Amino acid sequence: PGFYSKHWIYSLVCLAAMTFLLLPGVCVPAEPSAPLSEPSSEDTLLLVWFHKGGKPPDCWHSFGISGCTITGDRRLYSRAHAVLIAHRDVINSGDWSLPQESRPPGQKWIWFNMNHPANSLRLWEYEGLYNLTLTYREDSDIALPVGYVIPNAFLDDFPMASFAYRLDTSSTSSPRPGFVSWVVSHWGENLERVSLYKHLKEYIQIDVFGGVGTPIPPGKENVVELIRQYRFYLAFENSQYTDYITEKLWNAVQGGAIPVVLGPSRKNYERFLPPEAFIHVDDFPTVWDLARYLLVVKDSPSLIELHLSWRRDYSMYRPYKWREFHCTACRVVRERKGRTDVVQHLAAWFYS
Ligand SMILES: *[C@@H]1O[C@H](CO)[C@@H](O)[C@H](O)[C@H]1NC(C)=O
Repeated sequence: PGFYSKHWIYSLVCLAAMTFLLLPGVCVPAEPSAPLSEPSSEDTLLLVWFHKGGKPPDCWHSFGISGCTITGDRRLYSRAHAVLIAHRDVINSGDWSLPQESRPPGQKWIWFNMNHPANSLRLWEYEGLYNLTLTYREDSDIALPVGYVIPNAFLDDFPMASFAYRLDTSSTSSPRPGFVSWVVSHWGENLERVSLYKHLKEYIQIDVFGGVGTPIPPGKENVVELIRQYRFYLAFENSQYTDYITEKLWNAVQGGAIPVVLGPSRKNYERFLPPEAFIHVDDFPTVWDLARYLLVVKDSPSLIELHLSWRRDYSMYRPYKWREFHCTACRVVRERKGRTDVVQHLAAWFYS
């Protein structure tokens, strides 16, 4: 337990790893002698190459990560221990936008990408260039899923506990006015989720919101509030790739609806949630069977209980986007000091 309190972020991801995820890169033990005090000149310096402005995070105060300094100042390139490079920014700005000076010995370049493979262009041009990967995939060197759950039994040792949502059941198992909801902004006729929706709505009422349906004010919280009115939420991903599970699922979990998921395999989802916590479209031989099951669950307190009771024992955590990503990346670089890493097969890996 003391181990957890010392290495905050390390522990929080490792707690998730202990429950569902296997995050080998992130669970490399921190050196025991790591100073747990204010930043010093010994700090690991992480340069965010495409810095979007704003004050870089204080990793110690925000996340309990010691020995890390984040900067967006490119003049510090030659001193940086690592350079975090967002793939999308490289693609949008051209290759000349990569650092042009030679790489100082020991400096690691981190390939940062939160988009799925089909939205990540020209991967083949970057083979052998980077040293570490930072993506939503669990087998990244630095793995940062957009959400995960923590058993309440471990919450005392969870440094970000005050930012974790307790997933109670009292408010969720009681009756809800709405049946099935779906928030969708990007509508493509050739997307599997769209054809599935069209098929499903032949059998059941689905309330559609977002760009395509009834507008909702922007903001994660508004989506969650909307979901709270419904028993089910369609957490349909626009593409099916390993570990590509987005905020759609976590909005549903936070809002206490039972997620109906379309995305990677059931096995893949089970690395993130207990098996009964979601309904996978692949669980049913036909769309009619899925529709019928939703109708049955809607009127069955015991089935509702089956799908929601796990919540009593868990809290949910949604990482603090960029700031937390940067600090976690810096921590991993620190732990890997002196090691040589090369990302050889970027494209093949990311598509696998
Ligand atoms: C980083 O990657 C480059 C290019 O593949 C390689 O030459 C270098 O040795 C690597 N450095 C580290 C510190 O891993």
